[in-house]
Amino acid sequence: MRIVMIGSGYVGLVSGACFADFGHFVTCVDKDADKIAALKRCEIPIFEPDLDQLVRTGMDGGRLKFSTGLDDIAEADAVFIAVGTPSRRGDGHADLSYVHAASREIAAHLQGFTVIVTKSTVPVGTGDEVERIIRETNPAADFAVASNPEFLREGAAIRDFQHPDRIVVGTEDERAQKVMGDVYRPLYLNQAPIMFTSRRTSELIKYAANAFLATKITFINEMADLAEQVGANVQEIARGIGLDNRIGTKFLHAGAGYGGSCFPKDTRALAKTALDHGIQLRIVEATLTANDNRKRAMARKVANALGGDLHGKTIAVLGLTFKPDTDDMREAASIPLITGLLDFGAKVKAHDPVGMEQAKKELAGIEYCEDPYTCARGADALVIVTEWRQFRALDLERIKNSMATPVIVDLRNIYRPEDVRGLGFKYESIGRR
Ligand code: UDX
Repeated sequence: MRIVMIGSGYVGLVSGACFADFGHFVTCVDKDADKIAALKRCEIPIFEPDLDQLVRTGMDGGRLKFSTGLDDIAEADAVFIAVGTPSRRGDGHADLSYVHAASREIAAHLQGFTVIVTKSTVPVGTGDEVERIIRETNPAADFAVASNPEFLREGAAIRDFQHPDRIVVGTEDERAQKVMGDVYRPLYLNQAPIMFTSRRTSELIKYAANAFLATKITFINEMADLAEQVGANVQEIARGIGLDNRIGTKFLHAGAGYGGSCFPKDTRALAKTALDHGIQLRIVEATLTANDNRKRAMARKVANALGGDLHGKTIAVLGLTFKPDTDDMREAASIPLITGLLDFGAKVKAHDPVGMEQAKKELAGIEYCEDPYTCARGADALVIVTEWRQFRALDLERIKNSMATPVIVDLRNIYRPEDVRGLGFKYESIGRR
């Protein structure tokens, strides 16, 4: 198949490279000429494990190319819209201006039957708008608009694309269903179920999935707060409920609160969309509020570990990105945490294996350290915020000898309390008193 991917960011670049790996002929398009020039040199602008290898293989095999122009749309069987849909400033709705602009530009280049596919996360009904824009722009065009949301986790995007639990396609047009079936044939040949449904149902499935996962995380985070008060262990609670296959063990790791470019944005947009339709999603709204409050409360948790007053104290923070295996700082828990620590009068040192360049755009007034040991030196407390592998087997004796006071606050429960306390640390964690 011939595919054009509009937008070469996290979603478009990974999807385009994976489609090329299926054997399709893919053109990834972006307005950013510098980004396209870098991609042509196989320089990948995002931190995604193994993506550089996949892009190089696709380019060397003549199946993947990059362009700032839309000429290849004329020959395309499917044109995917994978542009950004950020939270609109102020009201939390998704900003669809890039989607609408892409729709107009695509319309002008259509020839022959073409399926236009919204892969970006878009509010329910966006497919109808895309269809209207294209029909108004090019009344003669022969096309169908389908929804095909992605369920990719940053840091595992290629694996999630190549081994999905399901493929969701929203269209009731039979020709479009055939094209989409051909596009995804290499996947469902190895049993990934492809689910055809209506366009609006497909659009809502994406939001419902992210909102449910965000709610599941927030549920276990609240269980952690209660566990601390009653002397229970939240990791064992997670295991005990997760073994019920109606609940499942994943996304039950209590922590500092969820971040990232999707959960916060999508839960906010879903709550807004519902209100637009006269429906109040109380559980989703509660998840939003609880998560925002939690991330802000983490600075207080650190202060309490040091007796409540942080003036003149030095806090070492390990992990800045919103999760491991990414350099993405969007809505990272480290941002409100460090901001709070500075507000409480502390001096902050920080280390992250990958994210410090991105972090410097968000967090000024702190000392960035090249490794965990330099970061911990002289600190009154060491706070683990992102569960990078590099932090899971630190030489804690060496750390203890270099700190001003031996206090560890582990916001991701990567250590066992008895091990750390056995070394003479005061050790606080999440949901495990
Ligand atoms: C998420 C969805 O998982 C993915 O399907 C969707 O396409 C995009 O959004 P992503 O945001 O990349 O993916 O990361 P994810 O691994 O889901 O983690 C999101 C946040 O939840 C992170 O801040 C992570 O630390 C947090 N989290 C995740 C927890 O706190 N506990 C968990 O058990 C899992």
